[in-house]
Amino acid sequence: MNRKRVGILISGRGSNMASLIEAARSESCVYEVACVISNRPDARGLQLAKNAGINTIALDHKSLGTREALDEAMHEALLANKVEFVACAGFMRIMTADFVARWEGKIINIHPSLLPLFKGVDTHEHALRAGVRVHGCSVHFVSAELDAGAIIAQGVVKVLPGDDADTLAARVLPIEHKLYPKVLNALAEGRIRLNDNLVEFTDDDAANLSLLAAG
Ligand code: GAR
Repeated sequence: MNRKRVGILISGRGSNMASLIEAARSESCVYEVACVISNRPDARGLQLAKNAGINTIALDHKSLGTREALDEAMHEALLANKVEFVACAGFMRIMTADFVARWEGKIINIHPSLLPLFKGVDTHEHALRAGVRVHGCSVHFVSAELDAGAIIAQGVVKVLPGDDADTLAARVLPIEHKLYPKVLNALAEGRIRLNDNLVEFTDDDAANLSLLAAG
């Protein structure tokens, strides 16, 4: 099987990255992880990726100076590694419109809220403050506007009495780990596509990935 080459962008812990790497060990997985790029040289995820034998690239956004310089360096690294799809996994830098346009329909992100609610950071705090009864995560195509690209799939959890941001995050994260590899696999298989800023599923199984509900 000719596996699609995926580049993963991270900034920190790398637990979603690890779940994407783990899923790629399965024979039925249609993607392989070609490289992991971090804008923080000290990201814990870089070490995890190295330990898994994956090519890692640190591109320090501070020394690169501008958003444009970071995005140019990331683009070159992705091309050098023959990457076909990009998965952002806890990547915390805003990208330039140029970079996003170069990867349109090929770049996805996981965000810890049910978009379009609670874009940006501190999503669990915002959800609790808003008093929502369900919360979760969203996998979406990346567009120039932050956390606003077409939504592919969502994982849902109940908000429980007594939840704080940590307990809520701890219930959302395993759903992220379950959902993201499935969506990436279907994207790499060509069963999920972006068409005119809308998501198309080529079959029912791919469409059924769009909701993952936990208790
Ligand atoms: C995850 O919860 C991910 O959804 C979130 O950061 C965390 C990274 O954890 N991403 C964003 O907030 C992107 N805007 P991880 O490094 O362990 O995967």
